[in-house]
Amino acid sequence: MKILVTGGAGFIGSYLVDTLIKEHDVTIYDNFEPQVHKSEPDYLNTGAELIRADVCDKESLTKAVIDSDIIFHQAAMVGVGQSMYQIERYMDVNTLGTAKLLDILVNEEHNVKKLIVASSMSIYGEGAYECEDCGEVYPLLRSEEQLKSRQWEMNCPNCGREVKPIATSENKPIQPTSIYAISKRDQEEMTLAVGRAYGIPTVALRYFNTYGPRQSLSNPYTGVCAIFSSRIKNNNPPIIFEDGLQTRDFTSVHDIVKANILVMKKSNADYEMFNVGTGLSVSILDIASTLSDLYNKNIESNVVYKYRSGDIRHCYADISKIRKLGFKPTVSLEDGMKELVLWGEEQEASDRSDKAFEELKERGLVEQ
Ligand SMILES: NC(=O)c1ccc[n+]([C@@H]2O[C@H](COP(=O)([O-])OP(=O)(O)OC[C@H]3O[C@@H](n4cnc5c(N)ncnc54)[C@H](O)[C@@H]3O)[C@@H](O)[C@H]2O)c1
Ligand SMILES: [Zn+2]
Repeated sequence: MKILVTGGAGFIGSYLVDTLIKEHDVTIYDNFEPQVHKSEPDYLNTGAELIRADVCDKESLTKAVIDSDIIFHQAAMVGVGQSMYQIERYMDVNTLGTAKLLDILVNEEHNVKKLIVASSMSIYGEGAYECEDCGEVYPLLRSEEQLKSRQWEMNCPNCGREVKPIATSENKPIQPTSIYAISKRDQEEMTLAVGRAYGIPTVALRYFNTYGPRQSLSNPYTGVCAIFSSRIKNNNPPIIFEDGLQTRDFTSVHDIVKANILVMKKSNADYEMFNVGTGLSVSILDIASTLSDLYNKNIESNVVYKYRSGDIRHCYADISKIRKLGFKPTVSLEDGMKELVLWGEEQEASDRSDKAFEELKERGLVEQ
C-alpha cells in the first residue's frame, strides 16, 4: 500500500516510517520545521520518498494525498507554552493544515482508505479524579488563588475536599487549556466529523507524554524528557515547577507506533478515538532523578515551587478502550529511559530551555 506520513521526519513520524516501510511504499511529507530540525536528520529513512513541503501548501499536499491509500497525519507545531504566544502560527499549521487535508479528501478524487490523526492527552485539560464523597469528578484548572497559596493538589469541584487522581478515559469531557490543545482538539474533531459524514475511515489517537530517541533535544518547547535530558547532559539541573509531584503517563515512542499500526489494520477502530499510554502515572521529579542517575551525573533538580499558567496537576491514561483492540504497552519506563539516555549521550544537545523559560516569563506565563 502507499502510505503518507505527514511530519514523517519528526520524532514519532520517523519511527512510524521505519516500521511501515518494511511492508509498504512510504512517503514522508515534512517541511523540516527549523525549530525541530537544525538540519536534515541523519535517521531519515532513505527508503521513503520525501516531499519537503508545508502542510499549509495545498498544491503540494493535494499531490501527496491523492496518491495515497493510508495517511498518518503527524505534522504539527508541538510546543504547549509557545502556542500561547504564537497563536496564529499554531492554528495555521495544526487546525488549518488539517482543514486543508480534509478539504482535499472531500473535494478531490483519491484512493484514501483511512486517515489516522495524532491527537493528544492535552485536550483533556486536567485528568479524572475521585472524591471520597462525590465519586468520579472532573475539576477544572486550579485557580490563581489556590496556586499562589501553594496548594498544589486538586480539590473536588462539588464539595471542595482533596481528590485523588484516577485513570482518565475517553469519556472524560475534554477541556483544552492551551492553544496547542485547542488545535489538537480541532484536528481530532474535524477529522472524525468529516470521516463519519463521508464514510472515510478515520481514527484519532490521543497520545500521552511520548518519549524516546530522536525527540528534538535542542527544541526547548517539546517534551519534558527531552528537555530534562538536554539540561542534565549539559550539567544543568532540570527546572521543575510546583513541587515536582505532578504526574503524567510517560509512553515510549515504540508503543505509540504499535498503536498506530494496530488501528491502521483494525476496521473496528474506525471513526473512534483512543487513548494511547501505559496506564501508569509517574511524577516529574522521578523522571528527572531517573535521567540524572542514568546519565551518571549527580544533579539535583531545581524545584522552583512556582507555577506555569495552564499546567495541569495529574493525568494518566485509562487504556481499556484500545486494549480491547489488542493493544498492550511493551516498553517499561526503565528500559525506555535507558534507551533515551544511550541515544542522548551520542547527541550534540544545545540546551536552550533557559531561553524558552525567559520567553514564558516575559509574557507573564510563569509566576514571577
Ligand atoms: N511527543 C509527544 O509527547 C506528543 C504527545 C501528544 C501528541 N503528539 C503529536 O504527535 C505528532 C508528532 O509529534 P512529535 O513529538 O513527533 O513532534 P516533532 O516536532 O518531532 O514532529 C513533527 C514533525 O512535523 C513537521 N512539521 C511541523 N510543522 C509542519 C508543517 N507546517 N508542514 C509540514 N511538516 C511540519 C516537523 O518538521 C516535524 O518533523 C504531533 O501531531 C503532536 O502534536 C505528540
Ligand atoms: Zn466531593
